[in-house]
Amino acid sequence: MHALKIQNIEKIYGKVKVLKGIDLEIQPGQFLILVGPSGCGKSTLLNMIAGLEPVSNGNIFIGDRDVTHLDPKDRDIAMVFQSYALYPNMTVRQNIEFGLTIRKTEKSEQKKIVEKVSKLLQIESLLDRKPKQLSGGQRQRVAMGRALARDPSIFLFDEPLSNLDAKLRVEMRGEIKELHQREGTTIVYVTHDQIEAMTLGDVIAVMKDGEIQQFGPPQEIYDNPRNQFIASFMGSPSMNFIPCQAEKVDGDMPTMQITLESGNEKVKVPIKQNIKGLEAYAGKSVILGIRPEQITQQGEEKPDSAMLNCDVELIEPTGPDTLVTVRINGVKTVCRIHPTAESKVDKLMPLLLDMSKVVFFDPDTQERVY
Ligand SMILES: Nc1ncnc2c1ncn2[C@@H]1O[C@H](COP(=O)(O)OP(=O)(O)O)[C@@H](O)[C@H]1O
Ligand SMILES: [Mg+2]
Repeated sequence: MHALKIQNIEKIYGKVKVLKGIDLEIQPGQFLILVGPSGCGKSTLLNMIAGLEPVSNGNIFIGDRDVTHLDPKDRDIAMVFQSYALYPNMTVRQNIEFGLTIRKTEKSEQKKIVEKVSKLLQIESLLDRKPKQLSGGQRQRVAMGRALARDPSIFLFDEPLSNLDAKLRVEMRGEIKELHQREGTTIVYVTHDQIEAMTLGDVIAVMKDGEIQQFGPPQEIYDNPRNQFIASFMGSPSMNFIPCQAEKVDGDMPTMQITLESGNEKVKVPIKQNIKGLEAYAGKSVILGIRPEQITQQGEEKPDSAMLNCDVELIEPTGPDTLVTVRINGVKTVCRIHPTAESKVDKLMPLLLDMSKVVFFDPDTQERVY
């Protein structure tokens, strides 16, 4: 039985359709991420699940209940927002207890719940403080504590970490994931941050312009993006998109090859992967999609590696590896090399392209070629 099912949900503001028929289903205990650029409709969808926004069309089920027209309080959900929205005059304890008091939970039971939740979130020492005596991270913990105290069927998070500084964000991200693993809670989590999406989600729905572009486990979406938008949105630095000429090779396998060029060097690279659709691009241009980690220094040869001497334009050490920007077929291409590998700006560097996982896109439609 699904924990949440969304059927053909639409939202229309005036004449603008901001959600264009969303279908989604998640199982109990799943962590669903709604990710996409700002304005794509993530918050609108979450608010409709919460009951804070009426739907224009479609239905929402939580478990076997049709909650489409129920009040938020009758939906058995708890929501954590980007801004912590704590009651400033109440202590941390009172903030956490508030929802329980409204629901007429017994005092002794409230005390137990506050104990459990504050231990879980490590805020036991803060229970008597007021929100203004807390740091941003502590406030966000309290806001989560308030949601957790409720033990709802589904937790809804709308960019809960985006007001925190980078270090705290990573810390809290880990804690949310641990909490989910330990408690087996069902979560719908909105973010525009693709790293949060990758690290937290069991399943990800990538949204754009009010539509779900792809739905699946994070690794599946990373390895098999359906179009160029998804490929560029997931992963940092982004996948490289290199326009290249495709040709048919007569004779045995492989049957297709592409031309890659850097500086004075030009190589023909056979495509050993079985991509049937590529044949339609013989004699035409096609977009090669290759991730930075698939281009690296010599000595890392794979069975399907191509070698190209590339002009180095920029070198950016990140610590564990170094990002080197070169130019291939006229476009800037980012490669991820070992920090000890030798590279110099304006010098040629021999690089290996692992062709075994590259993908291709149609230059006109930006759709994947299969
Ligand atoms: N109350 C509203 N009236 C009209 N348009 C709205 C309203 N709320 C949101 N929108 C529009 O709906 C779209 C989706 O917004 P939102 O769901 O907040 O996006 P996200 O959370 O992905 O950044 C945006 O184009 C936004 O301008
Ligand atoms: Mg939003």
